[in-house]
Amino acid sequence: LSQMLPRDRSLPPLVFHWIPWFGSAAQYGQDPVEFFKSCREKHGNVFTFILLGRRVTVTLGPKGNDFVFGGKHTVVAAEEVYGPLTTPVFGKDVVYDCPNEVLMEQKKFVKVSLTTDKFRDYIGMVDDEVTQFLSTDPAFRTYQMDDINEWGSFSVYKTLAEMTILTAARTLQGKEIRENMTKGFAELYADLDHGLTPLHWMFSNLPLPSYRKRDVAHEKMSQFYQNILRNRRNNNVGYEDDVMASLMNQTYRDGRPIPDHEIAHMMIALLMAGQHTSSSTTSWVLLHLADRPDIAEQLYQEQVKHFGLPGGGFREMTYDELKKLPILDAVIRETLRCHAPIHSIMRYIRDDLPVPQSLGAPSEDSVYVVPKGYTVLASPALSQMDPLIWKDANTWDTTRWLDAAGMAAQAKREYDEDTKVDFGFGLVSKGTESPYLPFGAGRHRCIGEQFAIVQIGTIISTIVRKIEMRLEGPFPKPDYSSMMVVPQQPCQIAYRRRKFD
Ligand code: HEM
Repeated sequence: LSQMLPRDRSLPPLVFHWIPWFGSAAQYGQDPVEFFKSCREKHGNVFTFILLGRRVTVTLGPKGNDFVFGGKHTVVAAEEVYGPLTTPVFGKDVVYDCPNEVLMEQKKFVKVSLTTDKFRDYIGMVDDEVTQFLSTDPAFRTYQMDDINEWGSFSVYKTLAEMTILTAARTLQGKEIRENMTKGFAELYADLDHGLTPLHWMFSNLPLPSYRKRDVAHEKMSQFYQNILRNRRNNNVGYEDDVMASLMNQTYRDGRPIPDHEIAHMMIALLMAGQHTSSSTTSWVLLHLADRPDIAEQLYQEQVKHFGLPGGGFREMTYDELKKLPILDAVIRETLRCHAPIHSIMRYIRDDLPVPQSLGAPSEDSVYVVPKGYTVLASPALSQMDPLIWKDANTWDTTRWLDAAGMAAQAKREYDEDTKVDFGFGLVSKGTESPYLPFGAGRHRCIGEQFAIVQIGTIISTIVRKIEMRLEGPFPKPDYSSMMVVPQQPCQIAYRRRKFD
């Protein structure tokens, strides 16, 4: 009833709901993007909805993205929103369990170990892992039989989740982690992962088995990494080339070395942050390629043109060549446009915050204010698929990223002014006011972007070289039930071995 009374005009409009506290949780949980679109029709670009007791103000469009990503961190803070979910999984004193300035230093520590030279080495390692996987995993029995006329089938999300963790372990995580990728490690990982659900986000601690398992798994995982650190120190083993070694050698601005438990927790955070984001993206890419064999053929021919050997087969890919492949670039970009793995970017409001007029207050002299204690939410997932911004927004169309000659549309590429590194695939975008932000923007922007593009690009290229794919059944819908958007299960892809791989 209170919703029908005249409201305070300075507050953003409230989305109607029947059940107090529960609010619009069902509509949001089922399909957030459609929910936002329907609210926009009624209320415009700014509105508040109730989500399990929280008041969440959504700000849509490029200006809405800017409002959240570009907000001052002292007012628009990530810690309060994400901390209760991530701290029990990542561990103490890192990411959202430390002041934002410390997180910024931690991100820099990791960034310095993700150099172009490392990426050059990673291409071969990722290719090797994927090749191994196809040659040994039971789902690829038909591939292993060498019969190019026989079709087999694999479960796409399950397969890509495994390939992602194996390739991340081999590259980012370090030698010991890859060697210990046993059943025990997989179980620990799964228990941690099951601690990253909407339920765990709402209630950070409940007397339920999944919470106990999460806490036990965190403790074991943390000790596992700390043992590796101790062993490396005791045996003076450098492995100078990996992230862990780089973290062991760096110090905070005040001269303090990074304690072992923080290094361990940063490594866990990196493992978790890159897993569903990358595996979901690669799964969607393969699903689209299976659905569009013509594009898969273009991608294959691009590989033949650049890396094909005269008698058939391929030579190794290199980082410098891989980053200049326009079809691969367009396929990844377009997939991230249509399937942003993170649909809601949230921040906690620490102080009353006026919303810019341009975002949709009804008149010149009325300004919305988001009150302290609210959560604000931006959704690049919506702006990336918004028919008001993109032509044929709902169609997966790689040509939108290519010019008439089939080359990467250079105007859409950007260049990182800070590091002077051309990240090749050109996904880097520095501004916070953009409709296309699959990796976020501003202070909390993704540091794994370039790594993810190398990993995803190499996995796809290796697979496309080796197999042809067709979709089995209808194209899967997005599953919004976990914190990341993944393809609804079951989803299978039929494949057969190519003549030359
Ligand atoms: C932050 C997306 C892969 C590590 C983010 C954010 C987005 C994102 C949207 C911003 C979150 C926010 O503002 O609240 C993605 C996508 C990926 C990917 C789409 C792959 C396709 C990775 C990988 C790693 C990683 C592989 C690690 C190696 C991080 C970290 C942050 C971040 C550390 C910073 C969190 C913060 O400052 O609050 N990512 N990510 N991501 N990502 Fe990624």
